[in-house]
Amino acid sequence: MVSRVIPVEDFDLVIFGGTGDLARRKILPGLYRRFLAGQMPDSSRIIGAARSEMDDAGFRDMVAEAIAEFGGDEGGDAACLKRFLDRVHYVPVDARGEDGWAELAKLMTRKGCEVRAFYFSVAPGLFGDLAERLRLHKIADRDSRIVVEKPFGHDLATARDLNATLAAHFAEDQIYRIDHYLGKETVQNLMAIRFGNVLFEPLWNAHYVDHIQITVAETVGVAGRGSYYDQSGAMRDMVQNHLMQLLCLIAMEPPSMFDADAVRDEKLKVIRALQPIASDQLVRGQYAAGDGQPSYRDDAENPDSRTESYIALKAHIANWRWAGVPFYLRTGKRLKARASEIAVVFKDLGHSIFPEDESRHRNILSIRLQPNEGIDLQVTIKEPGPGGMRLVDVPLDMTFADALGPEAEGVPDAYERLIMDVIRGNQTLFMRGDEVEAAWAWTDPIIEGWEARGDRPVAYEPGSSGPEDALMLLHRDRRRWRDIKTEVA
Ligand code: BG6
Repeated sequence: MVSRVIPVEDFDLVIFGGTGDLARRKILPGLYRRFLAGQMPDSSRIIGAARSEMDDAGFRDMVAEAIAEFGGDEGGDAACLKRFLDRVHYVPVDARGEDGWAELAKLMTRKGCEVRAFYFSVAPGLFGDLAERLRLHKIADRDSRIVVEKPFGHDLATARDLNATLAAHFAEDQIYRIDHYLGKETVQNLMAIRFGNVLFEPLWNAHYVDHIQITVAETVGVAGRGSYYDQSGAMRDMVQNHLMQLLCLIAMEPPSMFDADAVRDEKLKVIRALQPIASDQLVRGQYAAGDGQPSYRDDAENPDSRTESYIALKAHIANWRWAGVPFYLRTGKRLKARASEIAVVFKDLGHSIFPEDESRHRNILSIRLQPNEGIDLQVTIKEPGPGGMRLVDVPLDMTFADALGPEAEGVPDAYERLIMDVIRGNQTLFMRGDEVEAAWAWTDPIIEGWEARGDRPVAYEPGSSGPEDALMLLHRDRRRWRDIKTEVA
């Protein structure tokens, strides 16, 4: 298979917060990787903008360090790095004042560059200031694009405010709201698997599917970002956005075409059809201390914290396709493995013609997002050897790295892909304003519910699969969670 890298148009990308953590860890190394892959035209420029006083040379040193520290230089040499750094500039800018804007405006007068993108890698409180000044100084026009990151609001009211602030200066087709899960290769593969194969879609409904499990398990705790996380918790940090996006892609109706609004219209319908969650449909947990590691409360530096580092819930989508099918979602920190998967568990056979076999068999399609991206279809076959028709379940496992060879290795990471999509003007993998608001409209009452009841999260052992109560959530329904495993044997 030959790798196909299609260069994007010539562009200028301004990164506000260009000296910040996200820029150093993800955005800048990612851009360098795209440069090395030949996707970035030589004339394109990356302009860092932040409050620190620095010149081009100082910023270039910082970019080189970030690339060395956070990866991105595989396959490059000193000459490549120099060519890349020649495209990098820096302007000190005060988001809330007038300093630096005239210089930025001057720098942006390059002729012949059609695409201007502005990455707001800053606190949401600055979005309005930046948007306003970009328009005022005529740096952005009707064709410019802006990129914003999560958290996009803390609840419905704040998300609406943010949308209104951006809408005062930019049209919806100029706003790219990043959810980096949508940039993951396997997440997009969800759509390919569903809508590129004739096999699955006829079975993808309440007649054949017993239930669906979505798991995003992490081994990391919240140390280092406890003060943000403690205000947020797993519901706001992961469910409202990443897990919601996975749920949408797995549950949505086929869009009429693979186009930004067609896809986003279908996702929105799923979110709007989500039923409210009762208190017995959810379990919240907090990791305890163990294995020489501090507890959640210590990491968050809040001895009385009621914020959850784990959540499991049972959701229902009220539409014809999914009526009665539970969607079990769980995500947590400090769990036994970093493993994310979606498992579609099909119903039992209505009738078995094999009387010697009394065990229960099920087809399960599991889509592994990370690590070891791939799909695995559990099928039932005859147990080999004599002894009559006894049946056994075996995996038809496809790890994409094995199946696709080196082709699977060069895939851009989520940020690289999404930034290139911004330059291409393709919004399919970005959240639309109404989607974000609908997700908050579902999330808010759930959070308000546990706050009003004064619920406290239950403690769970670090390195475990989460709280015992979460097991009960499924046991009560005569089901069980799938094992959280790192590698598939
Ligand atoms: C971020 C969350 O959006 O996603 C983090 O704020 C979380 O808390 C991270 O750790 C997980 O992303 P990934 O790509 O490592 O699964």
